[in-house]
Formats: sequence, C-alpha cells, structure tokens
Amino acid sequence: MSEKLIAAINEQINKEFYSSYLYLAMAAHFDANALPGFARWMKVQSQEEWGHGMRFYEYLADIGEPVVLKPIALPPLKFGSPREVFNQVLEHEIAVTASINALFELARKEGDPKTEVMLHWFIDEQVEEEKNARDILDQLSMAGDQSFGIAFLDRSVLGARKADD
Ligand SMILES: [Fe+2]
Ligand SMILES: [Fe+2]
Repeated sequence: MSEKLIAAINEQINKEFYSSYLYLAMAAHFDANALPGFARWMKVQSQEEWGHGMRFYEYLADIGEPVVLKPIALPPLKFGSPREVFNQVLEHEIAVTASINALFELARKEGDPKTEVMLHWFIDEQVEEEKNARDILDQLSMAGDQSFGIAFLDRSVLGARKADD
C-alpha cells in the first residue's frame, strides 16, 4: 500500500482519538456545570470516537500495515453554553467529514479500492454525526436560554442516550 495513504490513515487515527478527547473534555465541562445528561451524551460520543480510531487501527492491522500512534492534542480548557458547545461539535464534525473525504480522494488517486470501500462506512457515519449535532442545535434553539428548557433536554433527551447509540 502507498506510504502516503498509510500516513494519512494514521493521521486519521490521531484525529479520531482527538475527537474522543475533545468530547470527554466537553463531558467534564457539563459535569462541572450540573448538566449530567449533556455529560452522559458526550461520554457516549467520546467512546464512539475511540471506536472510530480503533476501526482504522484494525484496518491497518488487518492488511499488515503499521499503526503509528502520535501524541493527542490538548482539547480546550474552557467551553461556553450548551448551544456554543454544540456549535463547536458541528464545526468539528464538518472538519472531520472533510478529512474523511480527502482520505477517500487520496485512496482513489493512489488506486486503492479496498480503502475506498472501507471508507464508505465513515462517509455514512459522518452524515449521521452532522445530523445529530444539527438536531440537538435545533432543540437547543427551541429551548432558548430558558433554564427549564435546558433542564428538560438534559434529563429527558441527552441523558437518555444509550451506550451504543
Ligand atoms: Fe469520528
Ligand atoms: Fe455516530
């Protein structure tokens, strides 16, 4: 397999693990601000991102190419309101989508159909990730800055996210 493509997949592993770290930092922010439902949603998302990194890891391992782990960047230390946080989530996921698309283009350029096929799952997944962030932003818009609206979303919507959802 092309060195360029192996390096790019390893870079993507790092980005997925950073996503996991970013969402864990957001979870800690919500835990510190009495929003355990939002924190739960972020913890589930953090686990899911770890799983994305592992999916790329297993792919490289399966085809006998090296997994090269790099340092995970520091996530921000401070976050804003739930609406600001979910705007950041949406922005982040749009950037991840661009990164997956660039990886797909590279696989095509390098003539690597098996990597293209592997990436189909991620292309679908990014549609879901962006949709989830937009849906929550819509609900946050409806709640406005009313604390009972935020509390309702925390208890009954985000807090209800299942571990594998
Ligand atoms: Fe991801
Ligand atoms: Fe997802």
